[in-house]
Amino acid sequence: MNIRKLLSAKVQAAMAAVGIPPACAAQVVPSKKPGFGDYQANGAMGAAKAMKTNPRELAQAIVGQLSQVRALEDIAEKVEIAGPGFINIHLAPAWLGQQAGQVLAAARLGIDAQQPQTVIVDYSSPNLAKEMHVGHLRSTIIGDAQARILEFLGHRVIRQNHVGDWGTQFGMLIAELEEHLGSGEAADFALQDLETFYRQAKQHFDSDPDFADRARDYVVKLQAGDTDILALWQQFREVSLHHSEAIYRRLNVTLARDHVCGESAYNADLPVLLEDLQQRGLVIEDQGAQVMFLPELADKEGNPCPVIMQKRGGGYLYATTDMAAMRHRVTTLKADRILYFIDARQSLHMQQVFAAARRAGYVGEQVSLEHHAFGTMMGEDGTPFKTRSGDTVKLAGLLAEAEQRAAALLSGKASELTPAEQAEVSRKVGIGAVKYADLSKTRTHDYIFSWDAMLSMDGNTAPYLQYAYTRVKSIFRNAGVDPASLAGDIVVSAPAETALVLKLLQFSEAVEQVAREAYPHILCTYLYEVASLYMRFYEACPILKEGVDEKTRASRLRLCDLVAQTLNTGLDLLGIETMERM
Ligand code: ARG
Repeated sequence: MNIRKLLSAKVQAAMAAVGIPPACAAQVVPSKKPGFGDYQANGAMGAAKAMKTNPRELAQAIVGQLSQVRALEDIAEKVEIAGPGFINIHLAPAWLGQQAGQVLAAARLGIDAQQPQTVIVDYSSPNLAKEMHVGHLRSTIIGDAQARILEFLGHRVIRQNHVGDWGTQFGMLIAELEEHLGSGEAADFALQDLETFYRQAKQHFDSDPDFADRARDYVVKLQAGDTDILALWQQFREVSLHHSEAIYRRLNVTLARDHVCGESAYNADLPVLLEDLQQRGLVIEDQGAQVMFLPELADKEGNPCPVIMQKRGGGYLYATTDMAAMRHRVTTLKADRILYFIDARQSLHMQQVFAAARRAGYVGEQVSLEHHAFGTMMGEDGTPFKTRSGDTVKLAGLLAEAEQRAAALLSGKASELTPAEQAEVSRKVGIGAVKYADLSKTRTHDYIFSWDAMLSMDGNTAPYLQYAYTRVKSIFRNAGVDPASLAGDIVVSAPAETALVLKLLQFSEAVEQVAREAYPHILCTYLYEVASLYMRFYEACPILKEGVDEKTRASRLRLCDLVAQTLNTGLDLLGIETMERM
């Protein structure tokens, strides 16, 4: 069920019937202003321009055709022309109620499965040398929501956690680990605190020339596949991945070990890739480096943009690994779309590797390459979010604080929950608040991280939506009714009811738009509107009060059920948990 698509198809058919060329789109959109109907078709203006005729007459012809073939009979109660040729469609409440009833009975809340594609979602992808910090939050949260949404629509989603587990800093880290293990310490103990460990390694590297030599030697050995060095690297990687996985679980993020396909995975392929580029004359030696020149990204003077594939001395770069990853994703994983959730500061890098991969023919035109960039998380002072002492904020600590703050927020309320249940609710509210605060902002913008704003019980926040959900569920508890036992039509009469039902039926439009454009805030705004319209409906339309007839009560309870299911499903698609009471 997608009203917009349904109306588009009907209007498009009418346009064809009155001789409008198929290239002219029906342009059906939800109406922005009350009084202009629920949807409007704006295609008559464009068509009139193309055909050099009068738009209002064309709109008249389209509306005439719609009514002649009764295309919108039952669906719309009124179709009228406004302004220069807008066609305003007022949907019929009876039809809306009927559709809502069908959606309740359908799988996936009536959202049609899409033509399945294989979609790679590259997200989170921390560098393993460091503990996960706020800089990894946005990619992890937004990427996970996107993966869930695409999966929900029936796509084959392949999550790829392109962790930074390779490169020169690993020589240093391995040398440090060796020191610890030499003194009898266990690897997981030595690496308990990755930050301290990294700092120690760096200090050793800078102050002790022997250590530095060893570290450099280990890089070479690592790349040559030396078994002892690889074993140490493996231990480091294991402990570090473990740490990330604990964060993912806590964040309710679906990434698992199977999704890790980091930089090291492409190591063996890099010389092969370079040779291929060399043989086909796509890289040129320039000051000892192997460079690809991209005329498609030329500067103002027309000089092609250089991308280094191999440094002088033989080292490979971040870009080389990304080339290998793209080739793997297309050739082996058979991707139709590849989505990257990476900070906007890597936009130039992504542009370069995309252009290079196209040029090399590793990614054909039929495959969509998409960098979904995002802005920076700012502190309340408007500079990038840091601790008071200016350090990066570690995720483990941030999430613990979120849970504590949520517990404090909820402790003020009378609760019928056991302490264990309260702790569970605090966890869901705290984590949900952090995630939702991020997801609800336009992805490409910077945003200010504010505990007070994200934990507010009113406004576009997770706690508000989670609370709205519990309120709907409490109606069923108070009525002693199992929503699954309800049957019968949804009858729409009051304006607050009509507005709510229409919004509920637009769930597919929101979800499908996010699947296409990867802006999860669209789904957040949608859910917030559902919750707000529900509150208005609840005020205006009595459900359990005396004097409400049986049929109306059942209908309204079914509507509540649809609200609950929509909120629950929508929040789940965003990776946010709900609870029955709080
Ligand atoms: N590890 C990189 C970083 O922390 C992000 C990797 C993103 N994915 C990619 N295919 N380049 O900056």
